Amino acid sequence: MSETIDITKVPVRKLHTGAVMPAMGLGTFGSDKYSPDQISEAVYGAVKSGYRMLDCASVYQNEHQIGEVLGRLFSENVVSREELFITSKVWNDQHREVRKACEKSLSDLGLSYIDLYFVHWPFPNYHAPGCDGDSRNPDSKPFSVDEFMDTWKQCEELVDAGLVKAIGMSNMTISKLEAVLPLCRIKPAALEMECHPSFQQQDLFDYAVAHDIVPIGFCPIGSPSRPERDRTAEDVADTELPEVVTVAKNHGIHPAVVCLKWAVQRGMCPIPFSVKEPQYISNLKCTTVDPLTDDEMELLKKAERNCRLVKGQVFLWPGAEDWQELWQ
Ligand SMILES: NC(=O)c1ccc[n+]([C@@H]2O[C@H](COP(=O)([O-])OP(=O)(O)OC[C@H]3O[C@@H](n4cnc5c(N)ncnc54)[C@H](OP(=O)(O)O)[C@@H]3O)[C@@H](O)[C@H]2O)c1
Repeated sequence: MSETIDITKVPVRKLHTGAVMPAMGLGTFGSDKYSPDQISEAVYGAVKSGYRMLDCASVYQNEHQIGEVLGRLFSENVVSREELFITSKVWNDQHREVRKACEKSLSDLGLSYIDLYFVHWPFPNYHAPGCDGDSRNPDSKPFSVDEFMDTWKQCEELVDAGLVKAIGMSNMTISKLEAVLPLCRIKPAALEMECHPSFQQQDLFDYAVAHDIVPIGFCPIGSPSRPERDRTAEDVADTELPEVVTVAKNHGIHPAVVCLKWAVQRGMCPIPFSVKEPQYISNLKCTTVDPLTDDEMELLKKAERNCRLVKGQVFLWPGAEDWQELWQ
């Protein structure tokens, strides 16, 4: 019998739409390490143990399998649709046909609406799944406000049509947000951004909160299982940082769990990935027990190393110098 969590104790975040979402969700990107069936089974177990927020995307290539599991959870009366908060994202090659992309995700997930639908990247640049980090698509282009707003308007129409309840942006920077926010008829309700102790993005986090945009943190543990092609010699491991290890020892918990407690207490909504039951249970449970102290939160601020893991170099356009150009 798997452990259940008192979900009434999981903190929540309120969107500007009035919707309420749990302050932690389950990531569903298995890269090439975990199969769609392993991930969808984890979704089944995670929802049974108390998860109510799932971070999905068409490019993760598992929405169909997750949809089958959701159908199982509904028919077994484990949860109702209304109790779940489900995200999905339009991939970069579908910026000109967002409605078609959203309808495909709805059909794969077996849902009549998505709670929060993201523009996954602010560029229409795409690459073959699993391609080498140095590969370049000759059709890739720098960020364009006009092109982005064309995609965003299509997202706004999804809200009008009732296919999605809220829309969000992902992989943005403050300067891109400043350029597009005044042009939005419907403001983004959330911003999905990389965030872990060694890459806190404090300015972007503060900017989102000040604009009533809920920050959702991806790679919250520092993505320790990412493939070799996504690693560089400068990357640090969050779970080995002395600040994180010290706090883990104080509480007798795994350093991964420290990263998650810190994120939630800071006001983030982290979306850790795991297909392993003891891990995903301890990840959610840690939001309900034994909080970090103010001194520990201060200590973890010092874990910042400006270590961006998802550099996005495969989205660079011909002539671009290096991946930093994506983040200007
Ligand atoms: N919007 C975007 O562009 C974007 C980009 C990247 C990711 N995301 C989202 O963010 C989610 C999370 O990112 P991520 O999967 O890269 O990184 P992550 O959540 O930081 O790391 C996941 C890995 O951490 C380990 N782990 C998890 N819980 C643990 C625990 N309690 N104790 C010890 N180890 C633990 C597991 O490794 P093992 O499997 O080796 O045990 C797991 O595979 C994705 O699944 C996806 O939904 C979004």
